[in-house]
Amino acid sequence: MSAPEIIRSDVTSTSKTRFTVALGDIASLPVDAIVNAANSSLLGGGGVDGAIHRAAGPDLLTECRTLNGCKTGQAKITAGYRLPAKHVIHTVGPVWNGGDRGEEELLASCYRSSLALARERGVRTIAFPAISTGVYRFPAEQAAGIAIRTSLDESKDGAFEAIIFCCFGDDMAALYDRLLPRELAGT
Ligand code: APR
Repeated sequence: MSAPEIIRSDVTSTSKTRFTVALGDIASLPVDAIVNAANSSLLGGGGVDGAIHRAAGPDLLTECRTLNGCKTGQAKITAGYRLPAKHVIHTVGPVWNGGDRGEEELLASCYRSSLALARERGVRTIAFPAISTGVYRFPAEQAAGIAIRTSLDESKDGAFEAIIFCCFGDDMAALYDRLLPRELAGT
């Protein structure tokens, strides 16, 4: 798949972090880290997890096997191997079960944990997929709002040059494109 098309870029927050919405395959982004919407085994799966493992090659799975899984809402980091990205940050989103089992806080924790790990490792450019909005059925609009607000909150120290929301479908990209300026205006 060709490199993702930038839908909206240079929406800069007060901390000078550039927030961008991209449409396409996150596995093709040449950034410091891409985030994987994994499952708790960290041993691969479908969706974006499958795309990242396919593009990274078998060494990614070999390293993942050494991580002993990951809890929902937490994140672990590996190398990127054959990916153009230097690192993969694997996080496990919540499965949507109606919203009264702490799903929103767990999803926010995915973004918070991923950005904390990224900061720790000196990552300056990072791309997120729309975590939990596929197989895990999290309502897209709620998930996008959590993604943007948490990323804004966790980047106030200017640690990141760019945070990219990489969407796989036009509707998701349009949603982020609509929400991003609104959430930024609220900061
Ligand atoms: N690049 C960017 N985004 C992608 C890609 C890709 N190559 N492929 C899929 N997506 C999008 C989906 O369209 C969706 O919006 O990523 C979002 C998350 O969908 P899933 O990949 O299904 O992830 P999630 O809903 O978090 O479910 C995780 O699915 O693949 C398994 O192992 C994974 O068990 C875990 C579960």
